[in-house]
Amino acid sequence: MRRWQIDPREENWLGTTAFEAAVADLVAGRLVAIPTETVYGLAADASNALACADIYAAKGRPSFNPLIAHVESVEAAERHALFDTRARVLADAFWPGPLTMVLPKRADSTVCDLATAGLPSLALRVPAAAIMRDLAQASGRPIAAPSANRSGRISGTTAEAVAGDLGDRLALLIDAGPTPVGVESTIIALTDERPRLLRPGGIERQAIEAVLGEKLAPPLVRPDDAPDAPGMLSSHYAPRAALRLDATHVEPGEALLAFGPELPPGADKAGTIVQLSVRGELREAAARLFTAMRTLDASGADRIAAMPVPDTGLGEAINDRLRRAAAPRP
Ligand code: TXA
Ligand code: MG
Repeated sequence: MRRWQIDPREENWLGTTAFEAAVADLVAGRLVAIPTETVYGLAADASNALACADIYAAKGRPSFNPLIAHVESVEAAERHALFDTRARVLADAFWPGPLTMVLPKRADSTVCDLATAGLPSLALRVPAAAIMRDLAQASGRPIAAPSANRSGRISGTTAEAVAGDLGDRLALLIDAGPTPVGVESTIIALTDERPRLLRPGGIERQAIEAVLGEKLAPPLVRPDDAPDAPGMLSSHYAPRAALRLDATHVEPGEALLAFGPELPPGADKAGTIVQLSVRGELREAAARLFTAMRTLDASGADRIAAMPVPDTGLGEAINDRLRRAAAPRP
């Protein structure tokens, strides 16, 4: 891991070799720890699914919790999500700053399906930290960044904490000293009629309510939420088709979600086969998972046979998501 020290108040990095190297890391799909005003972010190109798979692997997340995409400006944000009047008002009032908005994702957004965990919505933020905005702008990529800590640990607010937790996973750690806000961004969902507070954070609820002229609804809490995501997710991407797990053969009429080079008996009669990774690589499988489920759904198959995926590393998150997709739904 390289370490690059900056003074966030100086904002004098544009055009330097160190800055260009950081941009090159992001464009090449490598992981970079980038300080924001709230906490350090474990950052990668949000349009690169393999890079996003590396974020999940580095965090050791037991499930694919969708990521926040950081962009340099409101204009850039509008290329990725649909803004209504409320979203514009909040962007005007609080961006750049510690506010994240969950908005309907645009069909032509370059943010990959893995970053949003297949959801139709996207969490967007224009941070106050100029280093993050400048890297997004110079790389020409939206930057996916969860808090830079291993899953279950507290968010990294100093370079030392980040190095200790994730040092072996990073190409580069940008050290800007302790982050000034110290708590994560406030997350507001604007995906239904009432604006909803998904996570309290750096901007207080009252300030947001004052600007919106209405009260924020509470989060829809799921009992099985990840510890660092209280009430965050009201819905998961679930295919319309029924999913049969750990399939060792394909039944007539089923589509196949394949993993690895050996296809099971009956595969020759499957209407549609989607490969997660012919080489049996978990990183590649994670990168393709949500797009694969979408493709299978679009094929019109009523049932999907899913081949077993090893339950190690990223396989744990893949299996978690497959189990959710296979669970009976109301
Ligand atoms: O201050 C912050 O927000 C920091 C810095 C790095 O920007 N980032 C951060 O990311 O706290 P993370 O991944 O630790 O928390 C983001 C939360 C997750 O719990 C996730 O569930 C939620 O945002 N989230 C992301 N996309 C969502 C979506 N489409 N719908 C609902 N919740 C979403
Ligand atoms: Mg976090």
